[in-house]
Amino acid sequence: MEYLVEMEGISKRFGIVQALDNVDFYVREGEIHALLGENAAGKTTLMNILYGRYKPDSGIVRIEGREVNFKSPKDAIKAGIYMVPQFPQLVSTLTGLENLAPLGRERIRFKKIKQMALEICEDYGFNLDLDKPVWTYGLAQRRMLNVVQAKIVDKLYGIKVLIYDEPLTFLSPKEKKKIVDSMERMREEGKSVIFITHNIPKALEIADRTTVLRKGKVVGVYEKEDFEKERIYRDMFGGYVPKQRKRKREVKDKIIFEVRNLTVRDDYGEIRVKDVSFAVREGEIYGILGLPGMGGQRILVEALIGLRKAKGKIVANGEDITKYSTRKRRKYIGFIPEDRMKYGIFGGSLFENLYLGEFLEGGFFIDWDEVKRKCERLVSEYEIATPNLDFPAVCLSGGNIQRLILAREVGRRLILIAYSPKVGLDARTCDFIDRKLEEQARKGCVVLISYDIEEVLGICDRIAALYEGKLVKEFDAREIKMEDLEKALVGEI
Ligand SMILES: Nc1ncnc2c1ncn2[C@@H]1O[C@H](COP(=O)(O)OP(=O)(O)OP(=O)(O)O)[C@@H](O)[C@H]1O
Ligand SMILES: [Mg+2]
Repeated sequence: MEYLVEMEGISKRFGIVQALDNVDFYVREGEIHALLGENAAGKTTLMNILYGRYKPDSGIVRIEGREVNFKSPKDAIKAGIYMVPQFPQLVSTLTGLENLAPLGRERIRFKKIKQMALEICEDYGFNLDLDKPVWTYGLAQRRMLNVVQAKIVDKLYGIKVLIYDEPLTFLSPKEKKKIVDSMERMREEGKSVIFITHNIPKALEIADRTTVLRKGKVVGVYEKEDFEKERIYRDMFGGYVPKQRKRKREVKDKIIFEVRNLTVRDDYGEIRVKDVSFAVREGEIYGILGLPGMGGQRILVEALIGLRKAKGKIVANGEDITKYSTRKRRKYIGFIPEDRMKYGIFGGSLFENLYLGEFLEGGFFIDWDEVKRKCERLVSEYEIATPNLDFPAVCLSGGNIQRLILAREVGRRLILIAYSPKVGLDARTCDFIDRKLEEQARKGCVVLISYDIEEVLGICDRIAALYEGKLVKEFDAREIKMEDLEKALVGEI
């Protein structure tokens, strides 16, 4: 038997979107198979079908040569297939441990699950407090908990095929390495791993084979010896290959945004941001980088945009805004949230999500025709793929939701606070976001807050390292040494 997983002629349509169109996908035993494609190519949908979450409109799935018709992920798990989801799926009001509990069979005790979870956390170096409710977790910790879940399922039931949908997002370099190592370990044990990622260099480094999807169709299948980055980018994006751009920006002397001695507490009253000070100049993109779960970025962001009380001073364009509400701060500050689904859009149409900003600014009299024309211009400038302006924003793909948020937030105000703006997005969209951040910087400045070294390198002028809520060091991005930066991020300056 050559293939462990065989998916043949798979099609799936959601309303007017043909997510998958006659896809053939094969996975061998003991291989790491990279499943690549731009945002909305159909990767997650294909895997949701394999995992029994969706039923295909047509096509068949065979595992070890036998046709299967999974009714739910439970059936898939029984057949040895497990999927770590792209976006953590957890119950926020329960603790980390409680979220793991349903994985145990009746005879397996809570205590045993906890012990297993602690061992896995230790092994991966995950910094997780399993007794805290999940709503206090950032995305990094949620992702970690999902990985712990997968490992427990493997220990209890045995996994033959692990589907990892974007496992590297939200994690630190060390944790990423652990995940990659664990994939290689699984391969050695003869298990198969399906690895979905937008990190193409990483995929090509560790995968044995790759399948490339574009607009719901398979456009390429390559064996390791035929991996060629440019060709794969071309397959993915229909011709586009990302290039290094030259920086064309001038940082002026004028300070536009200043934070002085900011100290912020979390919901438990613990100090999470300690005495942070920085100043961002006109034309500048200022990066604030901290490792997931270690820096205190989320608490800092909440304080900057006015969602959390803070001690200290925040000054925008010379005006003390420390006491201002979030809404009042919007006079100066545009914001790109980390969790774009939850905080970036609401359940209205694309049009409503775009004009929201106009409405706040427009006072009582709104020229609807003008607003509509503006929105149409934005849709085309930001290349938002949508059937029309009335399309529900929540139904757009991840990349298009981010383009919508950018369209609303970029260039309207002096300061843009962008929190993990590129997370989960494909190389072309990331490149587009970089261009828009530069455009914003030319009109004022950008504060780019991130977990991910790659997200800030190449775009920021200065990078500040955050460790346990303290701004431990500021680097000039042009002469940064990776080694020094990595040390600062773990507090070893
Ligand atoms: N439950 C759903 N309802 C409606 N449309 C959906 C649903 N799931 C996916 N789609 C649509 O199907 C297409 C493929 O989506 P999918 O999530 O599989 O892409 P992807 O390749 O995983 O993208 P990404 O890299 O952004 O995760 C997209 O246009 C998406 O909007
Ligand atoms: Mg996906």
